[in-house]
Amino acid sequence: MAEIEKVALVTGASKGIGAAIALELGKTFTVIVNYCSNEEKALEVASQIIANGGKAKTMRADVTNEDDVVAMFRNIKNTYKTLDLLVNNAGVTSDGFLMTMSLESWNKVIQTDLTSVFLCTREAIKVMYNSKTKGRIINISSVSGVIGLEGQANYSAAKGGVISFSKSVAKEVSKYGITVNVIAPGFIETEMIKKVPKPHIDQIVSGIPIKRVGTVEEIAKLAAYLSGEDAGYFTGKVFTIDGGMVI
Ligand SMILES: NC(=O)c1ccc[n+]([C@@H]2O[C@H](COP(=O)([O-])OP(=O)(O)OC[C@H]3O[C@@H](n4cnc5c(N)ncnc54)[C@H](OP(=O)(O)O)[C@@H]3O)[C@@H](O)[C@H]2O)c1
Repeated sequence: MAEIEKVALVTGASKGIGAAIALELGKTFTVIVNYCSNEEKALEVASQIIANGGKAKTMRADVTNEDDVVAMFRNIKNTYKTLDLLVNNAGVTSDGFLMTMSLESWNKVIQTDLTSVFLCTREAIKVMYNSKTKGRIINISSVSGVIGLEGQANYSAAKGGVISFSKSVAKEVSKYGITVNVIAPGFIETEMIKKVPKPHIDQIVSGIPIKRVGTVEEIAKLAAYLSGEDAGYFTGKVFTIDGGMVI
């Protein structure tokens, strides 16, 4: 394995898509595995990266909490001096029809899926700018943020916000050599979609042109590509990876 010098932070990397991205990036980056509540799983991901010959460290931070986020980036700066890649992956759903959606459900999703992206991107850009690093930022949105999905007004609003935020920031930071891109997955096999009832999943799959849900590895490979040498001329782009849901 080549010498690993570049540093990547993946938020919400204790399981699901974030864990798969962390494992894939572990081949070329020193990976900071962020988690909120699941320390044991985050340590397993870091151990797996190390067992594969890479370098990894876990860092706890609730990415909705400004103090936690600022402290995490201070820790990153003190430990590594810089950050080459931020993947804003942490997210939650709290589905329900709008007429019965509580303000609590709305706020939880907006804070976890959108405010966290603002907080982490703001802190990452300060570190990249101050260390003159031509960094990359990859934000994980969703097809729900592109086309809107029934029962997900909160999630669609947050994930649509991630897309507009990313386009704005891409324009703002390109002069520093920093790029910002978005991955918008369709239905991917993780715990998040285990909450969706099976008949509903079957119905969704029947409407997907490729007729299956996606895998976390497929998302991880795209994230690795976007973080690599060959992807330096993309910024402000939205990459849907969804079996054809958005055509
Ligand atoms: N699965 C899909 O079909 C799908 C489709 C489109 C987009 N996405 C997006 O992909 C991303 C990952 O989804 P997933 O399916 O892999 O979800 P998941 O399996 O439920 O994992 C969510 C991850 O987010 C972390 N997290 C949640 N709240 C956090 C907080 N406040 N601070 C820090 N970390 C937090 C969790 O950490 P702890 O367990 O440590 O708390 C966990 O590692 C999300 O942004 C999601 O919206 C998923």
